[in-house]
Amino acid sequence: MKREITITINDEVHTATVEHRYLLVDFIREIAGATGTHVGCGFEGRCGTCTVVVDGYAVKSCLMLAVQADGAKLLTIEGLARGEELHPLQAAFRDLHGLQCGFCTPGFLMTLYDFLKDPIDSEDAIRHAMSGVLCRCTGYVHIVAAVRQAIAVLAAMTPTERARWFPL
Ligand code: FES
Ligand code: FES
Repeated sequence: MKREITITINDEVHTATVEHRYLLVDFIREIAGATGTHVGCGFEGRCGTCTVVVDGYAVKSCLMLAVQADGAKLLTIEGLARGEELHPLQAAFRDLHGLQCGFCTPGFLMTLYDFLKDPIDSEDAIRHAMSGVLCRCTGYVHIVAAVRQAIAVLAAMTPTERARWFPL
């Protein structure tokens, strides 16, 4: 059974007719071409690398059907920077070595985007917030440090400056 759906991804509108069982992660990668959203665990909901922001909330896109996102607005890793200017969280990952191979990084960034909208600056809270994403390369220490840097940078901004980094 098929249905026509429309999903806005990083401000671009995508309309397609898909099977009801078609996964959101496949819509993002195959129809929208946003291949920065990765599949790490074979659609089992374990690795978190497929995490995107759906109407403001971090969601594992391999656990959601595309038809469930009909009419939604999504943000993926491709929509995080503003032109050449990295999101403060991306800049912090770069500055503090929050990644090695980078395969998991889109999942961490989109998960933590949600957390940074109303963050708690404590190691426990940060580790809890990112507990749905797995990294095979790092010891998470650098990622926690990067999140704390991003919290500080965002806290020093005016509300208008800050809002620029959280479109959803
Ligand atoms: S691909 Fe692993 S949680 Fe979605
Ligand atoms: S940086 Fe390689 S899996 Fe996380």
